Amino acid sequence: MKKKVLMVCLGNICRSPLAEGILRSKVDPNKVEVDSAGTAGYHVGNPPDSRSIDTAKKYNIDISQQRCRKFIREDYFQFDHIFVMDKANYTDVLALAPDETYRAKVRLLLEGVESSPAEVPDPYYGGHDGFELVFQLLDQACEKLVNEL
Ligand code: 4NP
Repeated sequence: MKKKVLMVCLGNICRSPLAEGILRSKVDPNKVEVDSAGTAGYHVGNPPDSRSIDTAKKYNIDISQQRCRKFIREDYFQFDHIFVMDKANYTDVLALAPDETYRAKVRLLLEGVESSPAEVPDPYYGGHDGFELVFQLLDQACEKLVNEL
């Protein structure tokens, strides 16, 4: 059975589009499907932030065709695993869970990643360096994930 993975952040323009692109680059598309969404709807329909697009491109990953969408309750029925970037996302996503069974699908993406912080820092208001750090954290997390899925 194909596994379906959803990456979630606040805006769905910086961190989760990168996470989607990185994980997709590491998996067999016949075995793992990857998508991303945001808990806020500020940027719905927009492509990822240009700094995320540029950072992904540097590592030969094209995320420019992704479009922002909001996380919805139905995602709990569609996806096997829901990975959130930070604790605020975790709270917001759990608030929409139909019941306890579905809550178990949600995990902090960096949980269990060696020598990483607990959360993927929000790079939106910072410079390019923040996006590079985010890429490295996501890459580490996704590398670990491919062995577990
Ligand atoms: P993201 O970053 O959650 O990694 O996509 C943000 C993008 C936009 C905003 C905040 C965070 N915003 O406030 O518009």
